[in-house]
Amino acid sequence: MADTYDRSRPSYPEDAASWLIGSAPSRVLELGAGTGKLTELLVAAGHDVLATDPLPEMLAHLQARLPGARTAVATAERIPAPSRSIDVVVVAQAFHWFNFPVALDEIARVLRPDGVLALVWNVRDEGIPWVRKLGAIIGGGDTSVTAPLTESPLFGEVDEQEFRFWQNLRKDELIDLVRSRSYFELMSETERADVLARVGALYDDYGRGHDGMKLPYLTRCFRAHVVDQPPAPVVVEPILDLDATQPVPRPDLGVPAPGAGVSTSSTSGGGPTPGGGPTPGGGPTPGGGSTPGGGSTPGGGPTSGGGPTSETGPPEDPGTLLIDFK
Ligand SMILES: C[S@@+](CC[C@H](N)C(=O)[O-])C[C@H]1O[C@@H](n2cnc3c(N)ncnc32)[C@H](O)[C@@H]1O
Repeated sequence: MADTYDRSRPSYPEDAASWLIGSAPSRVLELGAGTGKLTELLVAAGHDVLATDPLPEMLAHLQARLPGARTAVATAERIPAPSRSIDVVVVAQAFHWFNFPVALDEIARVLRPDGVLALVWNVRDEGIPWVRKLGAIIGGGDTSVTAPLTESPLFGEVDEQEFRFWQNLRKDELIDLVRSRSYFELMSETERADVLARVGALYDDYGRGHDGMKLPYLTRCFRAHVVDQPPAPVVVEPILDLDATQPVPRPDLGVPAPGAGVSTSSTSGGGPTPGGGPTPGGGPTPGGGSTPGGGSTPGGGPTSGGGPTSETGPPEDPGTLLIDFK
């Protein structure tokens, strides 16, 4: 599937990439990076990119395309980066897959103040009759879903821009384009054969000799600045009574008295950890009872209802538990 996808799907115009990210070198986190079609343009433009996707086989293609690229298997709902560390979060052809409320909270968490969320989709230009005909056979038209962003209180006004390009396709590449669609996987053998025969016939009618088919696309781009974020995570320096090797109770910072509900060195076998609060087996850990997005609230930062309590210690920044962007 990743192979077929990579062979048949178009890349993005360079102008679109620079409109989305800007020209100054930036720290960019890409969500749903897939096989790295957009990533390639971002790296070539000199940005510092962390490319993520939930599917390791997609990232394997990305690594083959861009040896040495920084990648992580991750979803938009739980991002492996510290809070407020990213200039631009970019999503190409994938935002419509996200669990919007959770993902938008998580994206707002990792963006630096005034950072940008940039979305892009390639959409076949069905203003042209034969392209409309192709769409009627293969389905899967415009998936650019932006309402969750325009309606989100976490982000400001959404800017839009459109770019146009043509993808040259030979017949086998057009067939791959059809095969790469997720709905095609769900069809019966008979339905698949019917669709492929109709697409083949359309190509024979509209393909142009050696040049093949020129499939017109619109690249629809959107970007918005983050305007509201969970508060920056509380960083608790070690507060230790070195003689006792026990955390000093600091209920104001969520460091409870030993035995008050949080595992400490005396129960975990190790010394008190930097942070003085939760230790392994104690407080919030990745996957340790956290919801998608981390912590007791998506984004994991101390928000109303999710702040420090004497039972759990201070919430950790989920990103710092995973990958440091630097
Ligand atoms: C249509 S592909 C786009 C890939 C690539 N961005 C491109 O432009 O070619 C959609 C990608 O979104 C990823 N995806 C699906 N659900 C996701 C989620 N919840 N969080 C992050 N990525 C997701 C899929 O694994 C897939 O690689």
